[in-house]
Amino acid sequence: MNILGSLRHIFHRYTKKGENSYVMSSGNKNSRWWKEGILYQIYPQSFKDSNGDGFGDLNGVIDKLDYLESLGITIVWMNPFYESPLIDNGYDVSDYRAILPRFGKMQDFEKMIKGMHKRGIKFVMDLVVNHSSEEHPWFKEAKKSRESPFYDYYHWWPAENGQPPYRHSLFDPNGAWEYVDTVNAYYLHTFTKHQPDLNWENPKLRKEIFDIMKFWANKGVDGYRLDAFQFVSKDITWPNFPEGHEKEYVKWYGMRPQLHGYLNEMYNEVLSKYDVFAVAEGTGNSFEDAHNLVDESRNELQMAYHFETINLSSTLARYSLFDFKQAFTKWDQSFTEEGWLAIFLANHDNARLVDRFGNPSERFRTVSTQLLNTFLMSMRGTPYLYYGDELGMTNIDMPHISDYDDIEAHGRYQAALKANADMNEFMNTLNYNSRENGRTPMQWDSSDHAGFTFGTPWKKVNPNYLNINVALQKKDPKSVLNHFRKMTRVRKTNLVLVYGKYDLLLPNHEQVYAFTRQMNDTKMLILLNFSEGEVLIELDELTGLSSKNCVINNYDDINIVSGSTTLQPYQATILKML
Ligand code: NOJ
Repeated sequence: MNILGSLRHIFHRYTKKGENSYVMSSGNKNSRWWKEGILYQIYPQSFKDSNGDGFGDLNGVIDKLDYLESLGITIVWMNPFYESPLIDNGYDVSDYRAILPRFGKMQDFEKMIKGMHKRGIKFVMDLVVNHSSEEHPWFKEAKKSRESPFYDYYHWWPAENGQPPYRHSLFDPNGAWEYVDTVNAYYLHTFTKHQPDLNWENPKLRKEIFDIMKFWANKGVDGYRLDAFQFVSKDITWPNFPEGHEKEYVKWYGMRPQLHGYLNEMYNEVLSKYDVFAVAEGTGNSFEDAHNLVDESRNELQMAYHFETINLSSTLARYSLFDFKQAFTKWDQSFTEEGWLAIFLANHDNARLVDRFGNPSERFRTVSTQLLNTFLMSMRGTPYLYYGDELGMTNIDMPHISDYDDIEAHGRYQAALKANADMNEFMNTLNYNSRENGRTPMQWDSSDHAGFTFGTPWKKVNPNYLNINVALQKKDPKSVLNHFRKMTRVRKTNLVLVYGKYDLLLPNHEQVYAFTRQMNDTKMLILLNFSEGEVLIELDELTGLSSKNCVINNYDDINIVSGSTTLQPYQATILKML
């Protein structure tokens, strides 16, 4: 059977449950399609441009539906494509029911989602409702007068009360309040001043948001990714916060108690009425916070993602594998009974997977990306895989601040200047960790602009597209792409990798991440050599196993001799033990 044939075979295991609704038949009462799914994130402006304006669009995604199917992924999360002035690349929405014409029309959206569903792929929408754009009609009306019915859709500090208490903005070095003279008041903005925070205390606002969610659910959307959601609830008594508090940002600004009430309401009004799930960006300050968001019995959200592991590599200092293992292990342990998490190491707010966690050198890029993709798809939790990481796309070199468009990068630059930071060091770090690294156009082939557009790309294509692209990798059985496809198949055909118990082996080993997954009478051994050297390991679990037990391997072979083996640089293999 060829790849497509075997994928169809797998999708037969889905049983249809109403329109656009599929459940996988794993037989477990806690089984959910969104737990068993493999999620692929598309940054739409950089995926595929169909009309030559240099900007990716929905028709571009439609052109690539067969590609998505061939990857074996089963859920797509797409970053915002709503009407927007694009100050923060779409995370500033000016109409929640409309599509920015550059991305396409509503009919294109409908065609796209239908095409996904036909291929057994679910669709997750980004829901950006901690804030709107300043161009949203609600805000335009709100700032006309304090009597406007929309005034209370936002948070205001009346200027007659003096200066507002300091609030830190994540993107604006001048803080989170901005003055508007027509109403003689300051509005709050957690991100840029172009993104005023919505007032979730107001039941009318909440109803608007739930209606928007229903609007999209009725169009067939299967899930929502809730942007910056831990910040929606504020302390509206506006106390003064101590100096330096912003170093513990989530503690002071996140997870206010009203949040759970909002989420219960969202669950009752929307989530419980459709076969959809919602995933929150952020998990608060503790495991308890995380559980309070996602435990099924609470009727709030279904999934969340925490930043502890991705943050391990946010500076130029190399992360330690020990910390990496500890972090993943303790999150897993805290979620053995209830609750469900996303597993990810890259997204549109971060640099490329292989630069942060693997080895982007010519010699090790392929194997180390294969290792990371094996890891992501063998952990408990829903794997979130970012476009381009199925090829090992890398960071792009941008040494000067003038190379950057991103408002976040410029905010960080201004803040560094203000703090008299060493600007050379700052630029080195920005070049390494800027989120623009993860937003360069998808590398389809060796033609101009990597086949992303026949116009001028909105963002520079990484010059290495001549060596790293889909067309080349399709032909190479040992490519990152073909390994990715194998791995999605392994994940989908071995539910032990989804639900099975996780046990860490060799916890103190500095180069190797080894663990088992077990469910009923099935057991897998996962061996990952995170180093550029050969490493000899001895494990009882290897006794009796041979290369015949491999369900996937990024090298041709594995030589197991009485309970020991030598792993090659970045070797990643899964062995079936039972
Ligand atoms: C988090 C999003 O992931 C990021 O891209 C965006 O800039 C901020 N939230 C503001 O919406």
